[in-house]
Amino acid sequence: MGFQKIRKDVYYVGVQDWDRRTFDELIPLPDGTSYNAYVIRGSEKTALIDAVDPPKIEELLTNLRKLGISKLDYVISNHAEQDHSGGIPFVLEMYPEAVVVTNPKCKIFLQDLLNIPAEKFLEIKHEDTLSLGNKTLKFLLAAWVHWPETMFTYLKEDKILFPGDLFGSHMASSELFVWDEAKVYFAAKRYFAEIMMPFRTNIQKHMNMLKNYDIEIIAPTHGQLYDNPEFIIEQYEEWISDKVDNKVLIPYISMHGSVEKMVNYLTEKLIEHEIAVIPFNMSVTDIGEFAMELVDAATVVVGSSTVHVGPHPKMIYATYLTNMLRPKAKFASIIGSYGWGSRMVDMIKEILKNFKGELLEPVISKGYPKEADFKALDELAEKIAMKHKNL
Ligand code: FEO
Repeated sequence: MGFQKIRKDVYYVGVQDWDRRTFDELIPLPDGTSYNAYVIRGSEKTALIDAVDPPKIEELLTNLRKLGISKLDYVISNHAEQDHSGGIPFVLEMYPEAVVVTNPKCKIFLQDLLNIPAEKFLEIKHEDTLSLGNKTLKFLLAAWVHWPETMFTYLKEDKILFPGDLFGSHMASSELFVWDEAKVYFAAKRYFAEIMMPFRTNIQKHMNMLKNYDIEIIAPTHGQLYDNPEFIIEQYEEWISDKVDNKVLIPYISMHGSVEKMVNYLTEKLIEHEIAVIPFNMSVTDIGEFAMELVDAATVVVGSSTVHVGPHPKMIYATYLTNMLRPKAKFASIIGSYGWGSRMVDMIKEILKNFKGELLEPVISKGYPKEADFKALDELAEKIAMKHKNL
C-alpha cells in the first residue's frame, strides 16, 4: 500500500494484513489487522517507531526504500511482542548503523525473543528524551499494556502519541485516520476486551499520566490513527471505569435441551425485570463478541450441561476465558443440569478464581427442569433485578 504522510516528516510505513483471521491462535479477526510502524525524519537523525510481523517485513522494507530512507539512526521499540518487534532484525540487516532504542526490560525481551545482540541497544529510562534535530521523542514507561515492558513514545513538536498496542483495533484499512467512529468503536472495544481488559488498573494509571500531555494524534500499532483523540480516550475512560450496565450475559451449552430451556426461561424473566440479556450459545459464539459484552455487563450467569460430572468442556473454556479477561462484572451465578451426579458448580467456582464479586445461588436441575427449578430461576431473576437496582 506504500507509505503515507501523517505530518511534515512523519510517515506511516506500516502494513495492512487484510486476510488474517486469528491472532495468537485465539482471537478472531473479522476485519483483519494492521501492524503500524512510523518514520520520523528529524533535521539530524531518522527514527523508525516499531516494525511489523515477520511475514510482512518485505512490505515495510519496501516502504522505507520508497520513502528514500538511506540511513536509519534509531529503531524505537515500544513493545517486544513479535507482531511489532519480529521485523526489527530484518530492519537492522538493511540498516546496520541503526541502534534499537528501548527500556531495559524490553531490551531483555528483544534479546531473548529475537537474539538481537546487547551492543545494538540504546537504553532509555522513563521520561528520557531523544533529539532527532528539530524533532524530539520522549519516552514514557507504561508497564502492563499488556506486557510488562510496554512504553509510549511522544513526539513533542507534532504532539503525536505512539502508545504501542494501547487504543488500537484489529482492523485493516486503506484510510489512515478514523473516519467512521461507529465502526472503529466496535473494533476498538473488541480489541480492548480481548487484550487490555485484564489490565484496567494499570491503564487507568497510564491514562492519568497522559493527561499531562497535549495530544493531537494517537498513532497505535494496530488499526487506524485518531486525529480526534478524545473519541478513543472517552471510550477507554468508560471501559476502564468501575461502571457496569444493567445487563446479564448467559454463556451456555445445552446438550439435550434442559439447559437451553432454563436459559430461555431466565432470559424471559430478566427481560420482564427490564434487564438487557444476551444468551451466548458457546457452540456458535464468536468469542470476540462475547468478550466485548463482558466489558460492561453487571452479571454473568454460566449455563452448562454436565459431562462426566464436570461442566461441558466448551463451558470450561468459556469460564476460563472469562476468568482470564477479568471483567468488572459484580455478580455471577451458575445454572445447569445433570443426569446422575455433578461437581459442575464447584468446578466452575474454582475456575472463576479472579472473580471478586458476589456469587448468587446457583440453580441446577436433575434432568429436565421442573416446577421447583423454574421457581428457583424466578428467584434468581428477582435477586439479579434487586442487585442491579442497587448498583
Ligand atoms: Fe500487537 Fe502486543 O502486540
